[in-house]
Amino acid sequence: MNNNVFKNLSYGVYIVSCKNDNKYTGCTVNSIMQITSTPPTIALSVNHENYTNSCLEKNKKFAVSILSEESNPLSIGTFGFRSGRDFNKFEAIPYIIIDELPIIKDACAYLICEIIDKIETTTHSVFIAKVLNGDILNNKIPMTYSYYHNVIKGKSPKTAPTYIPE
Ligand SMILES: Cc1cc2nc3c(=O)[nH]c(=O)nc-3n(C[C@H](O)[C@H](O)[C@H](O)COP(=O)(O)O)c2cc1C
Repeated sequence: MNNNVFKNLSYGVYIVSCKNDNKYTGCTVNSIMQITSTPPTIALSVNHENYTNSCLEKNKKFAVSILSEESNPLSIGTFGFRSGRDFNKFEAIPYIIIDELPIIKDACAYLICEIIDKIETTTHSVFIAKVLNGDILNNKIPMTYSYYHNVIKGKSPKTAPTYIPE
């Protein structure tokens, strides 16, 4: 099996955010895809070890900030390499509130979602969510996962579904 084959799949780069115990939290994800447009539905894969997994399970409602090529890469690192268990990520990153959820200020678009189903795999939960709301915030180009790796030279941790051991 050539594990490099997975590098040929395409994704975006997003920050998923939710509210837990009256605090905002969330993590960086690439694994979001649209499942259908009627009704608007997406899927999202979140590692069992991520604090965000238990917060989504508990609270059901979440936001997706769609990052652009011009979004500050600091958000990707802050939300992707630290845990909300011991750190308030939103203290470090500018955000706005839409529908009571935090959206990264320099994102190019956002979605507001509610979990309606879940599929379990060995390491990740695949959440199925209906999209309640969403809008475009500016005309910047959405960041792709390959832009993150090839232009920003970013890395992905072991908890990312696309992690490839070196
Ligand atoms: C570019 C990038 C993509 C990522 N994609 C995912 C993903 O799709 N699913 C996931 O569970 N974790 C993903 N991660 C890892 C989580 O963001 C990371 O484990 C985070 O620290 C979890 O934070 P939490 O414990 O506060 O939930 C990704 C990280 C990066 C940097």
